[in-house]
Amino acid sequence: MGKEQAVRPLEKGNARRRVTFGTIWIPDLAKKLINEALESGRVSSGRLVRQFENRFAELAGVPAAVAVSSGTDADVLAMAVLYDYGAQPGDEIIVPALSFVATGNAVFHAGFTPVFVDIDPKTLNIDPAGIEAAITPRTRAIMPVHLMGKPADMDPILAIAEKHGLWVIEDAAEAHGAMYKGRAAGAMGHLGAFSLYVAHIITTGEGGIVTAQKEEHAEILRSLRSHGRACKCNVCTLNTASGYCPKRFSGQGGEDIRFVFERTGYSCKMNELEAAIGLGNMELYHDILAKRRENLMYVLSRFDRFNPYLTSIREEAHETIGPHAIPIVIGPQASFTRAELTRHLEQSGVETRTLFASMPTQCVGFQRLGYRLGQFPHAEYMGRYGIHVGVHHDLTVDDMQYVIDVLADFLEKHQD
Ligand SMILES: Cc1ncc(COP(=O)(O)O)c(C=O)c1O
Repeated sequence: MGKEQAVRPLEKGNARRRVTFGTIWIPDLAKKLINEALESGRVSSGRLVRQFENRFAELAGVPAAVAVSSGTDADVLAMAVLYDYGAQPGDEIIVPALSFVATGNAVFHAGFTPVFVDIDPKTLNIDPAGIEAAITPRTRAIMPVHLMGKPADMDPILAIAEKHGLWVIEDAAEAHGAMYKGRAAGAMGHLGAFSLYVAHIITTGEGGIVTAQKEEHAEILRSLRSHGRACKCNVCTLNTASGYCPKRFSGQGGEDIRFVFERTGYSCKMNELEAAIGLGNMELYHDILAKRRENLMYVLSRFDRFNPYLTSIREEAHETIGPHAIPIVIGPQASFTRAELTRHLEQSGVETRTLFASMPTQCVGFQRLGYRLGQFPHAEYMGRYGIHVGVHHDLTVDDMQYVIDVLADFLEKHQD
């Protein structure tokens, strides 16, 4: 980058600045609810989890949401619902080649086979143009990922799914608050899977949640998260003061439905303490989202000056990004390495993460599928030349300017 393009010299006082990747707000409400749960003696899944689920469903604009232990479990359970509709082990789920590895792992955990499609490098998301060629008679679902909180291009994805009779399960782990043409991430497909890990906009510390368009799917999800039990409604702890389930002995011949198992299930419930943190977080949701958006927009509106050496994503008119982090991709014209860029950022106090990897060709866990390096050029490029940095709600516009300054400083030293 030429000197005339430099933003401003790094200030002395910035030497100790830290631009961290994640943060967590635990407001008084969360602490109060945690104490109430501890004092009540009920810490396993109960009233607070139900409240959290209902509030999350309301925010996402869907009829139901089912809380689980992680975003990975949310992906797994959402896919496992397919077994109730005729899917067989080994059937195929189409996923983008680029995502956090959990997306691909989850397909295996659910007993299915991931089939990968390359990404569109401009969006970092699955390229809809590559999906139809990946469909086979065993395909059951398409699972787009809204990476970094930027929505995948859902209209063509939904149209392809409809044409071929496939389900759409959104991996919205990183996309709380993201909107596509007026529709919320997680509310466009049959099911949506969110992570509630601490790096995300709504967090429970560790956790995940599945959004469902139909109560029938929510019931299957409730059963799946608790060993496949026949006990799958959500009224017991909400509507009775004692928490005693009025339907408990409603199995055949008066059997206890908690010990009637209808399907192969998992064990991945959320507990009350996690839900308390989530409920506290949800109080602040709009502030958190607004702050993250202010930070992201500040950086993106100043990023063009780094082109072609460094690029990021854009927010298009039809969408609202729910900012998870800021991706930074090194252009082919650059004469520096990712390691050099990362070192400079880290030494300047800016925490970095790589921009994941092409799961089928750069992650060992998928080798058995037989894909070859070169098959997913865009995802592989991101796997070599992409990073992401924090945009969270404890960072200020000053911090964002600092990131810009650090990048400008780096380019001045490393690029003519
Ligand atoms: C795209 C994506 N999918 C799934 C997950 C898994 O979530 P968790 O770490 O809560 O299991 C993550 C993690 O953040 C993710 O980024």
